[in-house]
Amino acid sequence: MKISIIVAKAKNGVIGKDNQLIWRLSADLQLFKSHTTSHHIIMGRKTYESVGKPLPNRTSIVITNNQDFKVPEGHMVAHSLEEAIQLCIGKKLDNVFIIGGAEIYKQALPIADELMVTEVNAMPDGDVFFPEIDKNEWKVVSTTSYFKDEKNEYDFDFVVYKKSKP
Ligand SMILES: NC(=O)c1ccc[n+]([C@@H]2O[C@H](COP(=O)([O-])OP(=O)(O)OC[C@H]3O[C@@H](n4cnc5c(N)ncnc54)[C@H](OP(=O)(O)O)[C@@H]3O)[C@@H](O)[C@H]2O)c1
Repeated sequence: MKISIIVAKAKNGVIGKDNQLIWRLSADLQLFKSHTTSHHIIMGRKTYESVGKPLPNRTSIVITNNQDFKVPEGHMVAHSLEEAIQLCIGKKLDNVFIIGGAEIYKQALPIADELMVTEVNAMPDGDVFFPEIDKNEWKVVSTTSYFKDEKNEYDFDFVVYKKSKP
């Protein structure tokens, strides 16, 4: 099973502030939707609560320490990243997407096979960060550039990285 991380990060590594996203990038939301639709998506409890409900046409797995945490029928709760991954392996999935936030990205980076990174050409203030991508460990396989317009506040590149074999 391929484990993909999907994230939008600024040049300074910022991914959010006050439990919210910090930019308006319609093209990036479309990319996120097209890659994750019909798949399982794993996220931390804070990211789940910042969206407020499961994203449509995807199966959410929410990681929390809270043993009483409830999600709508058809979605799942796990109490560690390992448990979330095991749930997906048990379902014989081909691919699962880790969609954040910072705490979950940090734990998932060592076990991920692929990074899909929206590299936003901005230096915003924020309080959560994506870890440094080690260029010895990760190789760029594709880059697609998008340009600022009325629906996209900043230029950005959509960069796919694969873990390079030792
Ligand atoms: N730019 C992007 O692509 C992107 C994507 C996603 C999120 N974000 C941003 O990231 C921010 C949220 O990130 P965050 O780091 O604060 O929170 P988070 O990673 O979404 O969630 C953290 C919570 O997950 C649970 N958790 C984490 N590791 C766990 C483990 N090993 N076992 C059990 N539970 C675990 C805990 O929940 P409990 O406290 O319930 O135990 C913890 O408080 C927001 O600003 C959001 O907008 C940005």
